[in-house]
Amino acid sequence: METPCPRTAANLCRNAAIGEDVVGISRRTVLGFGVAALAAFPQRVAAGIGPFAVPTVKSLDLFVVVDNFANVFAADFDRPDISVSAPVPAPDYHSTYMAEWGYSLLARSADTAGGERNVLIDFGYTPRALLNNLSLMGIRLESFDAMVLSHGHYDHFGGLDGLLATQQVRRGARLFIGGEEAFCARLRGTKPGASSFGAIDRPALSRAGIKLVVSGDPQMLPGGGFTTGQIPYVSSERPRVPTAMLPGQNCNRALLDPAKRDVDFVVDDAEHELGTAFNVAGRGLVVIGACSHRGIINTVRRAQAVCGVGKVHAIVGGFHLVPPQTKSQALETVGMMQSINPDYIIPGHCSGDLFITAATQAMPDKVIRSVVGASYRFGTRS
Ligand SMILES: [Fe+2]
Repeated sequence: METPCPRTAANLCRNAAIGEDVVGISRRTVLGFGVAALAAFPQRVAAGIGPFAVPTVKSLDLFVVVDNFANVFAADFDRPDISVSAPVPAPDYHSTYMAEWGYSLLARSADTAGGERNVLIDFGYTPRALLNNLSLMGIRLESFDAMVLSHGHYDHFGGLDGLLATQQVRRGARLFIGGEEAFCARLRGTKPGASSFGAIDRPALSRAGIKLVVSGDPQMLPGGGFTTGQIPYVSSERPRVPTAMLPGQNCNRALLDPAKRDVDFVVDDAEHELGTAFNVAGRGLVVIGACSHRGIINTVRRAQAVCGVGKVHAIVGGFHLVPPQTKSQALETVGMMQSINPDYIIPGHCSGDLFITAATQAMPDKVIRSVVGASYRFGTRS
């Protein structure tokens, strides 16, 4: 029996779509759906309607622009429901793909009429790697229809300044960010006095004519994808964020969560983190969790709840199961992924060797290790 979802933040409600308890939906997310929508939320999700009408895309190509891993021995392969393209060597042997601690993914979706849209998700750690790899992959900078920043960590926005400095990104292109706190200056550690971990250059965004969409609510993207909005805790996963933020430094205190706006130091909980997802026709959801500090299972569950689609075709990205996360946490996530039973899992970036090894052993036909320069096609182009 369904329990009506209370109209207050941080309450417990029943997510009828997935049969798990939901805690920690913020007041802003609640208000973003509106009271009427909220009251109807469990029922709508149970009915497969969802609070968000998400179109299907005919095909989705994901290009790994920046990742921690390079592999010149990766090979192409095709299956009926996925096509994997290995990194294409540069024509000039002086050039090669640059792997670094960071993540950036280009999502190219095609609709039934053959129209294509490009959404760049995250920007890697350095402009050098981002621009080098985009060039080698033949991806034009002016082709971005929109951009998404998954969260305010330097290994995800570090390449942004250099990208904008090229002046090739379309003026007026939208950049989706999950909350004002993404802009706050950050520390590399959870203790006051830890070293700087940078901050987003707001004036550079303004100079480049980028249109910011800062929202903790789900947002539609050009080409049929959507952002998850804030990610509640519906599984055993809780925040795993090795950083702190400095309210008031590079961010507007008044726009922060009330619990954070009146202090000068906050250990991160990644409240502003966004997942990105696409509903591929005949396949199901492809969910991208760039670093998954809120938990990759929570991210997948959030994507399902937002659009009311239960079938998960692929889970892609960094799953943040690196130390100090433990082996038991990695194994627990493997077990939860087996319960979700996606067709494919493409772990990269911060997923961690423990998780990748265990997931590969448990689901050998599903796991494909992400490597920089590779691309993955879901759905069909014919
Ligand atoms: Fe990361």
